Amino acid sequence: MKLRLTVRDLEPTDLGDLDWSGGSEHVRVMAQALQASYADEVAVLVIALANGRLVATGAVDFRPDPAAGELTTLAVHEHLQSLGLGTRLVTALEKRVRARGLGTARLTVEHDNPRARSLYLRLGYREVGSRVESWPVAGGRTYVTTTAVLERDLTRPRPGQ
Ligand SMILES: CC(C)(COP(=O)(O)OP(=O)(O)OC[C@H]1O[C@@H](n2cnc3c(N)ncnc32)[C@H](O)[C@@H]1OP(=O)(O)O)[C@@H](O)C(=O)NCCC(=O)NCCS
Repeated sequence: MKLRLTVRDLEPTDLGDLDWSGGSEHVRVMAQALQASYADEVAVLVIALANGRLVATGAVDFRPDPAAGELTTLAVHEHLQSLGLGTRLVTALEKRVRARGLGTARLTVEHDNPRARSLYLRLGYREVGSRVESWPVAGGRTYVTTTAVLERDLTRPRPGQ
């Protein structure tokens, strides 16, 4: 089956179609990213099916480091994972980093997420360190975790290309 997909910027009306991406807390984070996009501090992208339904989402945050774009909130609908959407999303987000004149894309991945990690390594990311990160979860709690920091030099071609 061939999916007809559109990669585009997140619109305010899209927020109601993002529940699958990680529940209300994740939608709240996406809403904050959308606000920051108006100041051009963040770029938020979605992948939509031909019927308009959203199946992937992710963002580039330009605020933490003036020399790099940080890819965040990457999520592909669970029914459509392992079909290349994550790769397409990362590629589109990297394009936004390059369009900003920056040569480095950075992202973090939890130590207990080997699938995502192997995808990023396949896409040319290399581990450069680790962080302790936290984000809000259901029930007003805060989730604290250790992540690996991965970077890719966007001036070089992707492995195998
Ligand atoms: C991590 C995530 C964003 C990746 O998205 P995805 O759409 O599954 O990624 P892709 O399909 O591009 O690649 C994933 C795998 O599918 C394989 N694949 C890609 N295209 C394929 C195709 N056409 N046919 C078969 N397999 C394919 C890739 O080789 C890759 O294999 P790997 O797991 O051994 O590395 C997604 O799985 C997800 O949302 N996970 C839950 C949330 C999460 O972990 N987010 C990341 C936080 S850092």
